[in-house]
Amino acid sequence: MNYIKDTSSKIITVEILKTLKQQQEKICCITAYDALFAKIFDDAGIDIILVGDSLANVFQGKETTLSVTLAEIIYHTKAVKSTVRRSFVVADMPFMTYQVNSEKAVRNAGKILKETGCNAVKIEGCTKKIIEAVENMNEIGIPVMGHLGLTPQSINKFGNYKARGTEKIEAQKILDDAHSLEKAGVFAIVLEKIPSHLAKEITENISVPTIGIGAGKFCDGQILVYSDMLGMNIDFNPRFVRKYADLYNTVKEAVTNYSNDIKKSDFPNENESY
Ligand code: KIV
Repeated sequence: MNYIKDTSSKIITVEILKTLKQQQEKICCITAYDALFAKIFDDAGIDIILVGDSLANVFQGKETTLSVTLAEIIYHTKAVKSTVRRSFVVADMPFMTYQVNSEKAVRNAGKILKETGCNAVKIEGCTKKIIEAVENMNEIGIPVMGHLGLTPQSINKFGNYKARGTEKIEAQKILDDAHSLEKAGVFAIVLEKIPSHLAKEITENISVPTIGIGAGKFCDGQILVYSDMLGMNIDFNPRFVRKYADLYNTVKEAVTNYSNDIKKSDFPNENESY
């Protein structure tokens, strides 16, 4: 089967994501936090839509992702899910909703799936408790995505957002963690801000898809935060973000014109009135 040929009609599943890796077809992913953008991304043929806890930065104007609550993730995931027909929707598990113990993690993941209708959850890092939680979620049918490398929920431990795994010991730990997560049953792993050669090694040595963000071209798929790749945030310009639009200036110009037209009493005109 050549999957690419009828991509528009296939609803994305864990099985299809696995097939894409096996067929060496890249997996395209993006974040979304609301129904309107989610519909555009779904219509554009995106494979995975992540309701990331990056909504703290993009939507709430916060410095870190730590304050995001379970209720907020559920609210945004419901909105996203309401317009998505084909993409696989993953919800981030907020800080402190899965790290403490497996039972709490499973209950919270179940609540997210039950209340939003999303397809999977994502967790950051790889402790013993996280491995246990992934195994238990997997056992009861909750697909889990891992996230290694730069893990923003641990910002207070690391103290910065620099690339991870640039030193041998940390690189080995990320590789080992990827194997442990794979063994525990994750269906994919996000690799954030690690050297391209390390992402290549992980990608070639695990059976589940790797999704890179700032991790080079060898990953099985790529993800970007939508507002970064659409050029909506002029103050955020890391090298791993390719800007596919200049929405900041497009929107600013449109709204300036709208405002000027109102001031000039040019809007609304006769045709725009009843
Ligand atoms: O929260 C998020 O948007 C993420 C992506 C950057 C992978 O975790």
